[in-house]
Amino acid sequence: MTGGFSRRDALILGGAGVAVTVAGCTGFFVNQRATSPPSRSTASGNELAEPPELHSVNGVLSVVLESSPQRVPLAGREVNALSYNGGVPGPTLRIRAGDTLRVSLRNNLGAPSNLHVHGLHVSPEGNSDNIFVTVASGETFDYRYDVPVDHPPGVYWYHPHHHGLVADQVFGGLYGAIIVEDVEPIPAANDRVLVISDISFTSAGNIAQASTMEQMVGREGDFVLVNGQLTPTMSARPGERERWRIVNACVSRYLRLRLDNQQLTLLGIDSGRFETPREFDEVLLAPGNRADVFVTAQEGTSTLRALPYDRGSLDGMMMGGLNSSDTNDLVLATLTATGDTVTAAAPISRQRSQRDLRGAPLTAQRELVFDMQMGHGAGIGGMSPTINGSEFDVDRTDTTVQFNSVEEWLLTNISSQDHPLHLHVWPMQIVEQAGRPVDTLLWQDVVNIPARSSTRVRIAFDNFSGRTVYHCHILDHEDNGMMGVIDTR
Ligand code: C2O
Ligand code: CU
Ligand code: CU
Repeated sequence: MTGGFSRRDALILGGAGVAVTVAGCTGFFVNQRATSPPSRSTASGNELAEPPELHSVNGVLSVVLESSPQRVPLAGREVNALSYNGGVPGPTLRIRAGDTLRVSLRNNLGAPSNLHVHGLHVSPEGNSDNIFVTVASGETFDYRYDVPVDHPPGVYWYHPHHHGLVADQVFGGLYGAIIVEDVEPIPAANDRVLVISDISFTSAGNIAQASTMEQMVGREGDFVLVNGQLTPTMSARPGERERWRIVNACVSRYLRLRLDNQQLTLLGIDSGRFETPREFDEVLLAPGNRADVFVTAQEGTSTLRALPYDRGSLDGMMMGGLNSSDTNDLVLATLTATGDTVTAAAPISRQRSQRDLRGAPLTAQRELVFDMQMGHGAGIGGMSPTINGSEFDVDRTDTTVQFNSVEEWLLTNISSQDHPLHLHVWPMQIVEQAGRPVDTLLWQDVVNIPARSSTRVRIAFDNFSGRTVYHCHILDHEDNGMMGVIDTR
């Protein structure tokens, strides 16, 4: 192993080093905030429920996804949210490399929408992962995704991508997981999907609107939910190995996840996978990132927590630097292991090694500069999230790339806030962070660019051509212009 991660190192991916200081957290949690006394009595502590699962059969999965406003139980109360097929999250789609996934999207939201399969390496054109499609309310659109036979296994997700409405529709409850199964299954006593999202309600039980200020920073919900639940519980027997597929479906919130007193093994982030899975204590997921984790249960009760992460603040504005970071731990879920100890599962076998672009000849080098510009047109409150000085324009192609080439992109963030860059279709290999070369193989589809810092990535534009986008996955920034069009041909 070249990474130099040792057992007790904090494994921080996609960001510069974060000082790990663990706030003490005591007692039990009725309320979510670990350091405040229990006050609101919201139903919590129920057994974790998982979204319904739909599996492909004989190489095909055909599903109908109906998006509509629904009254659903969320955070232990009945609220008016947005849902796919009546639930939040929507169903989990389980497919295999080589499959055809067909999704018939029925939009009953009363607003335009569409569908994006985040992280899947599929065509961005026609009725595949084409985010330029608009599905008007009352209409149905039939998507068809042909998943390549060598598609990497892992956890992906789906959500709407209609420009200008993405943050509101995701915040309202429209998201679900996609699993591309392992060719050789990795034994686990339990294979769980944990979709983490955040949301705020009005007293009438409607989804809260985000103010201009909240959109500038990137809205963070009052409640952080796992599969729509507030602090659900999980149970296991000591020694059992569980697999947790964790999705950060929050609009803007970074999740610095920790689960103390358990043995944690990280298989990978996004479509990236380590050849040798590694033990870790902590993992940082920017909005849109996923983690594929094994938990070998140790006797007792542990809490899955999100620790504070400082993603910067807006400076120069009259509110004098509105800070976006929470200062307390959040309790997301608990795991209790009791009963007879189960004999340990066999070690996880070596995973297929991934391509390394560090030695690859480059066709082009580019720089993308991320900024929050003052007094720049129609942005939020006189401030515009931009890439290379421009706001998103669907009719402009910002980046033209040669099919089958390898490019190196320097991602430079000159603003005082982090921006997580997401590129559709083609994953990115992170080769340098804050001026330091990355000495492990790191492939992700969302790459954090910390405030006033640069990150260098390499991308192989192979297998698919077409026009699609890259954008900040703080969805309020995306909706307000921090997005560019890329055309590979
Ligand atoms: Cu998860 Cu372009 O989005
Ligand atoms: Cu995406
Ligand atoms: Cu951003």
